Amino acid sequence: MKQKVAQRQIRLAIASNAGGSGKTTMAIHLAYGIGARGYKVTLIELDHNGSLSVLAGLPPSGHAENSLAKVLSKDFQGDYPLVQLWEDRVSTVSAIQGGAPLEAAIANLYSANRKHYILGDRLEDFPLEADVIIFDTPASLEPMGLLALAACTHVLAPIKPEYKDTGALAGLLNWYYEKVAELRLKPRPEFLGFVPSRVDLNEAIHRNILGLTQKGEPNKKIDPSETLPYQIQQLGIHCFQHIRESSYYLWASGAGLPLNVYRPGCSFYQDYDPIINTLIQLVTE
Ligand SMILES: Nc1ncnc2c1ncn2[C@@H]1O[C@H](COP(=O)(O)OP(=O)(O)O)[C@@H](O)[C@H]1O
Ligand SMILES: [Mg+2]
Repeated sequence: MKQKVAQRQIRLAIASNAGGSGKTTMAIHLAYGIGARGYKVTLIELDHNGSLSVLAGLPPSGHAENSLAKVLSKDFQGDYPLVQLWEDRVSTVSAIQGGAPLEAAIANLYSANRKHYILGDRLEDFPLEADVIIFDTPASLEPMGLLALAACTHVLAPIKPEYKDTGALAGLLNWYYEKVAELRLKPRPEFLGFVPSRVDLNEAIHRNILGLTQKGEPNKKIDPSETLPYQIQQLGIHCFQHIRESSYYLWASGAGLPLNVYRPGCSFYQDYDPIINTLIQLVTE
């Protein structure tokens, strides 16, 4: 596909204070979705667990030189260790891997002068030629979540619907407000929204939390003010359409492919479309 013209670069931090909420899966499907529409995307993994390599079908980063650790090192000169993703399908999607080499880089961060600003500094000093940069962060928000926060323009938070678990939600928002103030981020990264993720519509509890009813289900009374989207909106935050749980994601990740490539035409990956559309609008406006 011909490359599209963007007006500005969007740097999206995908963050949540829970593991297994589907952050890396979301990062992959957003990267592919935006890349397939002709925009240039770089996915940066800030997680030392290296799950990007598994989910995107890459060999482990292995050495600091092949990972984000190189970018964070003090003698970095702008030669980003970019690897192309799904090259036979898209020509516009690349990644910088995290993985094990990040452990030493994280330890070194504490003695670095610019600590949490270091990734933002690098991207300012050596701009990456990308329309969208996606930061895939670990569940522990610090320190790598802070690096992403200080370097991003927008924050997106997948959240697994756990019954009345608005504590995690409020916790993440408080972290965001507190750190944005503490790091004096100007302009302030925008909180793009929460995304209920890994939603199993066969689970009555998930339907309840999201305020959804199933066909043929007896007319249950759901108090809208008890639903997760409502509570999110009450906080003044946008709630995106939920991402459904599907075992196809497991099959696709086993093959190192986005679901779009693994199972073309499958409806599940279209759950990411509202987010993809929002990001493309931000890039082109
Ligand atoms: N929508 C989904 N449906 C089914 N499984 C999913 C979905 N999203 C993620 N998973 C699976 O859940 C596990 C954790 O997902 P991952 O994206 O690595 O989460 P995180 O990065 O937040 O830890 C992986 O095995 C992944 O394949
Ligand atoms: Mg992850």
